Amino acid sequence: MRPKILVIGSLNMDLVVQAKRTPERGETILGEEIHFIPGGKGANQAVALARLGAETMMIGAVGPDSFGRDLLKALERDGVDISGVKILDKGTTGVASILLAGGDNSIVVVPGANSQCLPQDLNQQEEKIKEADLIVLQLEIPLQTVEYAVKLAKKWGKPVLLNPAPAQTLPITLLQQIDYITPNRSELALLAEIGHSSALEEEMDRLLDLGVSNCITTLGAEGAAFKAKGEKLCFIEGHKVPVVDTTGAGDAFNGGLAYALAVKMTLTEAMKFAGKVSALAVTKFGAQGGMPTLKEVQEYFGC
Ligand code: RIB
Ligand code: NA
Repeated sequence: MRPKILVIGSLNMDLVVQAKRTPERGETILGEEIHFIPGGKGANQAVALARLGAETMMIGAVGPDSFGRDLLKALERDGVDISGVKILDKGTTGVASILLAGGDNSIVVVPGANSQCLPQDLNQQEEKIKEADLIVLQLEIPLQTVEYAVKLAKKWGKPVLLNPAPAQTLPITLLQQIDYITPNRSELALLAEIGHSSALEEEMDRLLDLGVSNCITTLGAEGAAFKAKGEKLCFIEGHKVPVVDTTGAGDAFNGGLAYALAVKMTLTEAMKFAGKVSALAVTKFGAQGGMPTLKEVQEYFGC
């Protein structure tokens, strides 16, 4: 079965600068390399899904510049349906300035055109929501667009997976409608807003109490934790792989999870699958560069 998945989210050109270390404040250092590579959490998750074999549609916005054209070409090459991506008359495509220094990465995102991905665009693309088995969202487009997307998804009875990144607090009315939420540890702490440093499970319970159906917390190399309402907390372990670039590891995980859920794996199976997709993604350079195909996942992990 080939699932049909709609990603509503960001497209960024990633300007990746490699240097030996992060400069001190006010300091200039020489870097080693610069790469211009397609990114943006929305587009990365769409590419992950398409490589795994999902029929993938994307809604978003780019500027009328060469970055925008390059991003759309990259999505097309992976077979993503880009008919829902709007090309603006003016403004600039989203850019992420990424510094890779000694194994650390720091990112500044300038949303540009992504901030013009508006609720009314979704009205024109409602057919895509109707056709999709699952709707995937992140937080690099305006919150009101995310809220409206969830509203339309619920109108058509579609499950929603929200990757709440970059971190921001969210209205309870939104959380109540989310089927799967996938924060990392710090995003979880912000969303749960318990106000003191608290245990992982306590924070996840808080989101479940607020009305989220399934809470999935990614824990980097340690794997991930998940809990459905009224059930026990479970963990999956991380995989030991040679790490080249962790940019987009979360996107790979979300793409893998969305694919697995849409082909009706159980949550436990879906978590394991997502962990494998994410492990393979970090073995290659670039956010989209390492997104594996289904065959690559099966071959590497022998299943
Ligand atoms: O999740 C990784 C992505 O975050 C990068 O591709 C960058 O564009 C930022 O949006
Ligand atoms: Na990668």
